This record gives sequence, structure tokens and C-alpha cells, in this order.
Amino acid sequence: MADKATLTYNGKTYELPVVVGTENEAAIDIQHLRAESGLITLDDGYANTGSCISNITFIDGEQGILRYRGYPIEELAEYSTFVETAYLLITGELPNARQLAEFKALLNEHQFIHENMRHHFEGFPADAPPMAILSAMLNTLGCFEPAVARPSDEPNFLASAARLLSKVRAIAAASYRKSMGLPINYPRFDLSYTANFWHLMFCMPNAPCEPDPDIVRALDMIFILHADHEQNCSTSTVRMVASSQANLYASVAAGVCALWGPLHGGANMAVIEMLEGIRARGESVPAFVAKVKDAHARLMGFGHRVYKNFDPRAKIIKQACDRVLSRLGIRDPLLDIAMELEEVALRDPYFIERKLYPNVDFYSGIIMRAAKIPLSMFPVLFAIGRMPGWIANWREVHLNPKARIYRPRQVYNGPTKRPYTMLAARG
Ligand code: ACO
Repeated sequence: MADKATLTYNGKTYELPVVVGTENEAAIDIQHLRAESGLITLDDGYANTGSCISNITFIDGEQGILRYRGYPIEELAEYSTFVETAYLLITGELPNARQLAEFKALLNEHQFIHENMRHHFEGFPADAPPMAILSAMLNTLGCFEPAVARPSDEPNFLASAARLLSKVRAIAAASYRKSMGLPINYPRFDLSYTANFWHLMFCMPNAPCEPDPDIVRALDMIFILHADHEQNCSTSTVRMVASSQANLYASVAAGVCALWGPLHGGANMAVIEMLEGIRARGESVPAFVAKVKDAHARLMGFGHRVYKNFDPRAKIIKQACDRVLSRLGIRDPLLDIAMELEEVALRDPYFIERKLYPNVDFYSGIIMRAAKIPLSMFPVLFAIGRMPGWIANWREVHLNPKARIYRPRQVYNGPTKRPYTMLAARG
């Protein structure tokens, strides 16, 4: 592969280095292009911009490949746990038995939120969006736990990461309990990460309560599938904020805000609302798809900036849906609508030409409904799952000895220079 690309502009030729990654992805390095030629590159929405060199996650969108630190998502979803996957993303390696036990102990040790933090939940209205509470409370957590170990100090950084991973779960559950007027639960030391989340969400202090292992396994798998996804909108946001050397809490709080939108982590909620709407109106699926096309609107849970063949996470979740619902003895009419919608869309030239396939959000909501997770909490579960990826990316930015503040350029297209108009003369 050539190690240089050439660009000719205005009769002059510029040589640009080509950087090749471990999976042979090649990129033209334009860092010095402006200094040499006066040109910048324009890529609205960053669709073809490599914003960094990263060792964390690999995606091949054409072939539907997703790997965390080299490990295929299919194998992680089948054999790993969320805690182990989090360790892998943050440190780069799967833990051995001792390391895993130590990491679990750290998660246990840090699972309580400061008692004074509990009062902060009282200030939010009962119907406040849980993603707003989550972002605000992550920043608040930074006030209570300001010390984050240096990213290069791995054992201590792992403790900082565990603190955040453990507490985000408690914050998420507390926001739900408050919105329902229920007492905030304390975590249990005998439960796994995900079982504890379920306990924090649903158990009542006055009744025995054991999480269902099938539900716990299904939620754990959802967390694994969401744990990282290279330079998506929220992770790029975390890296952007981290590049100013902002602290870990501020950076992930910003990540939550970016994730919130319906084109990103809010899509899992939007999918269920769409399916509920079809059911409530008694609409036929082909008629709904035709309406989407006519309006040039969006089929929620479909399409992806990177995957142009299939989203491997959607495949895994779809298979899990059948398994989980039949184990739990649940028949969800929304699953039937979703499957018909997929079938109709995948046969339709409109979706074929645009390479639109179900993404991770298309079926994840069906599983979360089966687990009795309230709709407004769906994006929050996405955020809990994505936390290891955000932490790993934050750490990578800080470990880069050549790190610079992220600062894209633009092509200005507004008014050219004009003199100030006095108020009286403005008409
Ligand atoms: N339904 C119908 N048409 C779509 C969809 C969709 N879901 N997504 C894209 N298109 C169409 C666009 O209208 C456009 O058509 P055109 O060329 O005729 O104008 C074409 O496909 C290309 O669309 P873009 O907007 O360029 O695609 P982009 O890569 O910018 O967007 C995105 C990706 C945001 C995921 C988009 O597919 C979408 O909005 N999907 C629905 C929301 C969703 O499910 N988001 C979750 C994404 S996964 C995640 O964040 C975890």
C-alpha cells in the first residue's frame, strides 16, 4: 500500500502521508495540509473524518464486524459478562481470575452514593427526563468524588473507573425510584453488577426480592452490546470534552447529553413509541412503511452511519429476544410488529438502495420491556452500558503524549465584513 497520497490544487502538488491501522484501514493525514496549501478539508457531520487513532474498538461497517480490543462482539455477548467486558475496554486485556475478583471487589466497595447526594434527587420534578437527571447527577458526583487517579496509574485508575461504573447504576436507579415516589434502595453486596441494578430499580424494602436470572443475563448482554462503538456521537463528545483536559465526570456527563437524542441513544425509546403507535392505530405495516417513505421520514431503529450491511449487535439482540421472551413466557405483540416491519423494509428498494438495516436499538427495547424497564429509562440503560467505552476513550485521550485540544475548523459562509448599523437606522 502506498504510504503517500498526492493532491494537486492550483497547479501545485502536495504529498500527504497515509496512515494504516492494524486492520489495514488507510487514512490520509492532512494535519499539515493547511499550513502548506491554505486548504482545509470539509466533511459535514464528520462522515469521512478520522478524528483520532484509537486502540479500543474496531468496526467494519461493510462486513458487519464489531470487536472490542480485538474480541468479536458475538463471543463477548455469549461468553463474557458486562463487568469483564468493562475491564477489557478500560485496560485493554481480559482480566485473569484474580484481576476480575479484585475489580468486582472495587465495584462493590464503591457502590454507595454519598448520603448527601440523595437529597439532590429531591430537587427534580417527578416527570423530569431521566437522562437530564443522569447527566446532572454525574456532574454532581464529580463534586463529591473529585479525585480521579492519573490515567497512567492503572491500578488506581481502575478504582476511579469502578467508582464511576458502580455509582452510575445507583444514580440511574435512584432517579427512577424518585420519579415513582419510591424509597431509594441501598445496593446489596451479594449480587452481581447487573442483578444489583435490577434490585436497585425494583425491590421493595419490605418484601423479599430476588432478581430473575434470565432477566439479569439479558440485561447484562444488552450492557455488553452497548459497551463501546468507536467514534459515535456521544463517545466523540466525551473525547472532545476530555481533550480540553476536563475531568472524567464532566466528560461523561456531556456524553450522556449527546446520547440522549432520538438519532442516537434515544432511538430505543423512539422505536417502542413507533411500534406502539402502529398497534394503537391498528395500522398495517406495509401502509406504515409507505407513509415513512412518502414523508421521507425515519424508521426508528433503522440505518446506521457506519453499518451498511447489517449491525452485528442487532442480529444478536434479535436472537436473544425470542429466547428471552419464551423463557419468561411473554408474548409481546410489538415483537411481531417489529419483525414484520423488518421484513417489509428489507424487501423494499427504498431501504435496499439506502443500505438501511435494523440497528442495535430496533430490538433492544423489546427485551427491556420484558424486563419491566420503564420506557423513559431505555436511554439510561444505554448510558450505563456505554460507560466503560466512555471511560476507555477518556483515558486514551489523556494517555496520548501528543494529545491536543480537539478543535475542528469550518468554512465560513455568513455575511462578509459590513459596518455596524446604528439602532435608529435599522428600520
Ligand atoms: N428510515 C428511513 N430513511 C432513512 C433512515 C431511516 N431510519 N436513516 C436514513 N435514511 C435515509 C435518509 O433519509 C437519506 O435518504 P436520502 O438520501 O434520500 O436523503 C439516506 O437514508 C441517508 O441518510 P443519512 O441521514 O445521510 O444517514 P446518516 O448516516 O446521517 O444517519 C442515522 C444515520 C442517524 C442512524 C439514521 O439512519 C437515522 O436517523 N436512523 C433512525 C434513528 C436511529 O435508529 N438511531 C440509532 C442509531 S444507532 C445508535 O446510535 C446506537
